[in-house]
Amino acid sequence: MTSGVTDHKIDRLVHLLVRNATVVVPGPTIASEIGVSRSTVWEWIEKLRALGVAIKGHPRHGYQLEKLPDILVPSLVRSELPHCEIGHKIVHYFRTESTNRVALQLDEQNGPHGTVVLAEEQTAGRGRLGRSWYSEKSKGIYASIVLRPPLSPAAAPILTLLAGVATCRAIRSATGLDTDIRWPNDLLVNGRKVCGILTEMKAEVDRLHMVVLGIGINVNHSSMPEELQQIATSLALQGGRRYSRLQILAELLRDVERYYHLLLKEGNAAIVREWSSVSSYAHGKRIQVKTSADNYTGVTTGLDVSGALKILRDDGRQELLVAGEITTLR
Ligand code: BTN
Repeated sequence: MTSGVTDHKIDRLVHLLVRNATVVVPGPTIASEIGVSRSTVWEWIEKLRALGVAIKGHPRHGYQLEKLPDILVPSLVRSELPHCEIGHKIVHYFRTESTNRVALQLDEQNGPHGTVVLAEEQTAGRGRLGRSWYSEKSKGIYASIVLRPPLSPAAAPILTLLAGVATCRAIRSATGLDTDIRWPNDLLVNGRKVCGILTEMKAEVDRLHMVVLGIGINVNHSSMPEELQQIATSLALQGGRRYSRLQILAELLRDVERYYHLLLKEGNAAIVREWSSVSSYAHGKRIQVKTSADNYTGVTTGLDVSGALKILRDDGRQELLVAGEITTLR
């Protein structure tokens, strides 16, 4: 197992505090229940406080949660997903370079289908096109979902769209915010990005070993770095309140599971249909397209069955966009 992963005893500590949320739990009781020293309990309580978990009390009298913590430790996340394959195994870090990087290193035994890697903070979050992903501590959701689908590498783009639809549905249902998807998978609220998805995979020519859906959501950021302010925002900035990361993540994982089964049962067309129903970019959007080889303007005319974007170029040609970046033209 990759080092740095959150000690499952911290997970048990959080779980124990949540289970006993209405009472003060004495330090020695906690120490003996989870099998660590009292000074370790104190150290971990301080660590949790630094992550914004509100805990009253001190070593001599015991500890009590002031409110339910919004921390993504495995036991709390899993208790929201009783029957799900996605999330049956959760690997949590307080801090890591990149959850995608960790996920890609997991073999079949340590990272079976449905494993989710989470971090409270990323020090080298990866974005699309070689960019980085701003990953402020405990403000966002930084999640990588390991899929081992019985599909060929050609299915990777549709899995990316699937992740976009699931995230869009989860954000809409948890926040009520009007969320759009810009092809292929940028989630926007009021025209600014709140979530990005980076799909990476390990494959042979005809066999997919693993797909990692890396999802970054700006949830409770109270401001964005200056260089991102024009293009990015957070759910809290748009909704004017804080949101539960735990609730959004749980909805997201349940939705990924639902759409994954839909894909296996009904094929690509079902995901294309869902994507087209939540995105204003599917039809009739005037856009500018930038690819490594080309730069042009046009209007969107739907998705093909592989998930590629159909565009009627201003010069009259029909284009099928497989990879590239688009911006809206007014
Ligand atoms: C984008 O550029 O729009 C994609 C951003 C993807 C960021 C997420 S955060 C969790 C996962 N781990 C990473 O290093 N990147 C993805």
